Amino acid sequence: MLVASNRGPVSYTVDEDGSPRAKRGGGGLVSGLSAIGPDADSLWVCAALGDGDREAVRRAGGGPLPDEDTGGQRVRMLDIDAQVHADAYNGIANSVLWFVHHMLYQTPLEPVFDAEFRRQWASYEAYNRAFAEALAGAAAEGAAVLVQDYHLCLVPGMLRELRPDLRIGHFSHTPWAPPEYFGLLPGDIREQLLAGMLGADRVAFLTRRWANAFTECCQAVLGPGAPAVRVGVHGLGADADFLRKRAHEPDVDERLAALRAEIGEGRRSIVRVDRTELSKNIVRGLLAYRQLLDDHPEWRERVVHLAFAYPSRQDLAVYRDYTAEVQRVAQEINSVYGTPGWTPVVLHVKDDFARSLAAYRLADVALVNPIRDGMNLVAKEVPVVSDQGCALVLSREAGAYEELGAHAFPVNPYDVLETARALHAALSLPPEERADRTKRLAAAATALPPAQWFLDQLRALEDLQPS
Ligand code: F6P
Repeated sequence: MLVASNRGPVSYTVDEDGSPRAKRGGGGLVSGLSAIGPDADSLWVCAALGDGDREAVRRAGGGPLPDEDTGGQRVRMLDIDAQVHADAYNGIANSVLWFVHHMLYQTPLEPVFDAEFRRQWASYEAYNRAFAEALAGAAAEGAAVLVQDYHLCLVPGMLRELRPDLRIGHFSHTPWAPPEYFGLLPGDIREQLLAGMLGADRVAFLTRRWANAFTECCQAVLGPGAPAVRVGVHGLGADADFLRKRAHEPDVDERLAALRAEIGEGRRSIVRVDRTELSKNIVRGLLAYRQLLDDHPEWRERVVHLAFAYPSRQDLAVYRDYTAEVQRVAQEINSVYGTPGWTPVVLHVKDDFARSLAAYRLADVALVNPIRDGMNLVAKEVPVVSDQGCALVLSREAGAYEELGAHAFPVNPYDVLETARALHAALSLPPEERADRTKRLAAAATALPPAQWFLDQLRALEDLQPS
């Protein structure tokens, strides 16, 4: 069994003496894969993303990384030319495909599909080909290959040509664009992307909504002659066992105490935890909080908005600008509304998982208001670790809404006034109802643990008759 993804389960920084230092990552795939056990014959193929990764690949002689770095998982990093990777990852995956599926373009000026775009597209093809060739070279006869995400849309088609014996699955962790938005892409690119994915035996998505959008795009672009493919839906839930244990370790307790001091005695908290990612809608979240303070001055001095916005994809100017805008709006709220004893917005930008868990534990309200989101695991994780119950303000455009919406305060992510009203209602929720809702949220959020999510996909692929 092979897994392929851009970002792997481990990354490396370079120590002062030039040696690579491993840092293991988390996420659904990592815990899902651990469910098949250390003895399983598996290989995870990913890309080297920086100097530390490249040095580790060099030291491993291009073969699997040392077990002590990967926790026993067999991982092979591909040292793809840095410019090719940058074009594919920053240029195509994050600036085009991410924007299309999250519907982020400001269309009077963008997108522009010009010669530069075509140059980057050639890199995207080369980058996908490097994965397809590595997988084809490593897979045993009839092996199952699970290809992840929008970075690797062309891999299934390329791999099918190289190795018709393999069972290939593709899983999208993002939303999928509706046909009219997918239609922004040049015709040949649309066809190539879909044909690439249809090279898989099975494509799967986090929700029915994204799966349906994919099917509609195939019909709109390829017509009735589109090759048949099985389309599956596998929702991903929170990893309850891991979270509950991790959230009570001493470093989390320490941060909990620090956050309590920062918020101030007797105050409520509205918590958000995101990468500083355009689709997460952090600025409108801040504007809604500001609106709350205007509409309900009784909350002034009595509530603090803890906003954790961890910088992401900072190679791209649009992400850097967005990060700066988040900081500007937070500061503005503090300078307009703050008092000597009260800072209305506490913004943290340095990634710290233990502090995120501490914030989950103390949150009175969690704000999850993405413009669009494949699933959104924060919405699922908060109710699982919350100490005293937490109300959830949740965008209708998050995949998690399908499972959690009934127990949350739903919002249109563009509607700042509605979001402010939802924050007020969530803050005002009586304790018993809050506890009751949290219980229901936690039950829904943990219904599909990562191990099951992963095994279901694997079994569905293995159950297919070879094509
Ligand atoms: O949400 C889709 C996704 O691909 C996740 O699987 C992943 O965590 C993230 O986006 C990718 O982020 P990055 O660009 O930092 O690798």
